[in-house]
Amino acid sequence: MAAKLKNPVLLEKFVSSIALNDTGVVVTTSDGKKYEADYVISSIPLTALRKINITPALPALQQRAINEIDYSKTLIVQLTVTGEYWGEHTPSLWTDTKIERIFATSLDGSGNVTNLTFWLTGANAEYFSGMQTEARDKALLDTFYAIYPKAEGLVTLEKVVDWGSDPLILGTWPAYKPGQIREFGNAIAPPHGRLHFAGEHTALSNTGMEGAMESSERVVSEILRNKNKHAVATAALDPKSLFVTCMACHSLNEGEPHKLGPNLYGFFGQSAAIQEGFNYSPALKNAGIVWDKSILRKWLTAPDKLVPGTLMTYRGTLSEPELEQLIDYLITQTNPKVNP
Ligand SMILES: Cc1cc2nc3c(=O)[nH]c(=O)nc-3n(C[C@H](O)[C@H](O)[C@H](O)COP(=O)(O)OP(=O)(O)OC[C@H]3O[C@@H](n4cnc5c(N)ncnc54)[C@H](O)[C@@H]3O)c2cc1C
Ligand code: HEC
Repeated sequence: MAAKLKNPVLLEKFVSSIALNDTGVVVTTSDGKKYEADYVISSIPLTALRKINITPALPALQQRAINEIDYSKTLIVQLTVTGEYWGEHTPSLWTDTKIERIFATSLDGSGNVTNLTFWLTGANAEYFSGMQTEARDKALLDTFYAIYPKAEGLVTLEKVVDWGSDPLILGTWPAYKPGQIREFGNAIAPPHGRLHFAGEHTALSNTGMEGAMESSERVVSEILRNKNKHAVATAALDPKSLFVTCMACHSLNEGEPHKLGPNLYGFFGQSAAIQEGFNYSPALKNAGIVWDKSILRKWLTAPDKLVPGTLMTYRGTLSEPELEQLIDYLITQTNPKVNP
């Protein structure tokens, strides 16, 4: 994939500002260099994004979401092991001490424990994060020795990775406070003119790496549609690019497996929620819906308004002509007569 890029990936560049206008985008990095483009995708975590100057300003709610959603803190401690330290305990432990979780691994294929990782989160990560290196390392080891008294001399602390202090993320992943998902859920991801947002924090149905992938599929489709908006009015929309938004959750061809959502082969003109082997919500099963164009328009605009309690977490962002194109595409692609 990297080899297919027209230009090399620029490393060690820190974006400090993004300026948007009607025809393009100018991204400025901290070394003063400027980069021009038609569109820009930011997958920068919210904690780091809030330090970037975006002009014109984002809508107030979106900027507040970026400023206020905090990231959970994680501290990871790596150690090497030269002997049996565990005595009466197991080598790995989940503890109620400040070093929290202790994971023992064997990295040399012998089956003997060679490495240890402590995983600390939240308040405990912040506790050690605030200390001087030497005092911190001693406190980490002392806590470990209090659990495993035989361990002294058998382990070496190699590295502490403090995600909460890394300026490129300042944490690990969003830790929403009560009410923040309700308030900000729909405000994080909408594009701002030619600036589009991807990244795990914009995903609806997945977390972690899968969330990052999900967001990239959505943002590609968004850009293709944005391009259509800016292209001459006569340029045809590509309905396939509209379906990219649905692809993470739906397959279209006969016999293809269900994904997060059901396979849609042959659905049009039929009752809702009848695809075999898919675990539908009671809400959709009992909705009494038969899929025609007008119901689909409502469904693909706001599924939870049409069927409160549905499992389809999707926000409609399509314009009317795009919606019509997508519906026609869906009908043809899933029609047993056209695609037997
Ligand atoms: C310790 C740890 C363990 C994890 N374990 C798992 C796991 O087991 N399974 C799993 O699925 N997920 C795991 N995750 C989560 C997963 O790594 C993330 O969800 C995923 O990497 C998010 O991808 P992303 O592209 O949204 O953001 P990132 O991978 O964070 O990418 C954002 C990029 O933006 C760059 N950046 C930030 N600021 C700027 C700036 N100003 N200018 C230029 N670039 C900037 C950063 O350098 C970074 O490269 C883990 C995360 C952590 C921290
Ligand atoms: C995040 C995953 C997700 C996305 C994205 C998504 N869907 Fe769905 N979809 C679902 C789920 C889950 C259901 C089942 C809902 C239920 O049981 O309440 C569903 C149901 C449906 C149904 C009804 C199927 C039936 O058997 O009655 C249709 C039609 C549909 N989706 C079309 C689409 C289209 C078109 C898109 C893209 C614009 C889309 N979906 C985007 C998850 C998704």
